[in-house]
Amino acid sequence: MPDTFRALVVDKKDQEFSVKVNELSFGDLQEGEVLIRVHYSGINYKDSLAAHPDGKIIREYPAIPGIDLAGVVVSSDDPQFREGDEVIATSYEIGVSHFGGYSEYARIPGKWIVPLPEGLSLKEAMIIGTAGFTAALSVQRLEKNNLTPENGKVLVTGATGGVGSFAVSILASLGYEVEASTGKDAEHDYLKKLGADTVISREEVYDGELNPIRKQKWAAAVDPVGGEPLASLLTQIQYGGSVAVSGLTGGTELPTSVIPFILRNINLLGIDSVNCPMETRVKTWQRFANDIKPANLEEFVAEEVSLEQLPDVLPKLLKGQVSGRMIVKVKHGDGSGPVKKSPNSPVF
Ligand SMILES: NC(=O)c1ccc[n+]([C@@H]2O[C@H](COP(=O)([O-])OP(=O)(O)OC[C@H]3O[C@@H](n4cnc5c(N)ncnc54)[C@H](OP(=O)(O)O)[C@@H]3O)[C@@H](O)[C@H]2O)c1
Repeated sequence: MPDTFRALVVDKKDQEFSVKVNELSFGDLQEGEVLIRVHYSGINYKDSLAAHPDGKIIREYPAIPGIDLAGVVVSSDDPQFREGDEVIATSYEIGVSHFGGYSEYARIPGKWIVPLPEGLSLKEAMIIGTAGFTAALSVQRLEKNNLTPENGKVLVTGATGGVGSFAVSILASLGYEVEASTGKDAEHDYLKKLGADTVISREEVYDGELNPIRKQKWAAAVDPVGGEPLASLLTQIQYGGSVAVSGLTGGTELPTSVIPFILRNINLLGIDSVNCPMETRVKTWQRFANDIKPANLEEFVAEEVSLEQLPDVLPKLLKGQVSGRMIVKVKHGDGSGPVKKSPNSPVF
């Protein structure tokens, strides 16, 4: 093992905010039973917020963002894991108040770690990441609320985003008729390749006018957008249908009324990936290995970047400029490459 390693450090001192790659020593890492050599991480909306001065994600500076990581166990004080095990760790406090995946090494509590299921590679796990995992949780929750392909068309909003693109693909693979809504005119073919039967504009979901009730259009919806677009789509869900809401890219306010709920008997289902129980986590990752892994997983990769590129690419997600998933290749070659030996870490 080297004496030091590289990580993306976000810091706020006085009025100065910085996002840069620094060299750290192992003593800088926080508590945790399992030391992991990170191979891949991903970029989620939350990671972009973590690297923004007003993002309100990081609780204490300096911090290492990256809510997702996949890698190989270097050492473990948790009997569940051994040196050489391939593992995934996503959310909980990772990349928020516990140092995250934008680091060549991460020390993580054993209770936050999922063994990599057979049939998935470390890279594939990070293409899926929290975004794909949240899409899977959303679809599973809709099915628990009696959604079947016979019920009718399912809408996916924010469809070119991480959660949206996986929701399109998973629903299509399970035999649903999928209608994808996007703000990106140029990406209709991309969404059809992922499995959308039809693609509509954001305005066809929400035209700027909120009516108490509208024509019934969709049996259910996966919604990572929230805000007024969610208020509008609730008025267009078929009798007895459900909406799984996971995100807020369209806003946090929900200016709705009880009308669609009491006239149409609909359900609004909240989706949380952060504190999702470990049993559900393991089962859901296993499903990606068994039956819901998209055949065209590489199609989801918008860009593969290095730690050094992160300060430039992280803001892109906040501008809604990305289609699919950005992944971070943390380990290059045999891993000895860019790591330099230095006794002092300049930041901690
Ligand atoms: N609940 C959870 O556990 C959980 C887990 C993961 C993510 N999330 C949340 O889910 C949301 C999506 O995450 P992500 O990783 O998929 O982000 P993302 O890759 O940035 O995708 C977000 C998509 O939302 C759409 N969008 C952006 N601004 C919009 C606006 N003003 N109005 C309507 N649509 C807009 C865009 O899709 P189009 O251009 O195709 O319309 C964009 O690509 C975020 O709010 C994130 O924090 C929550």
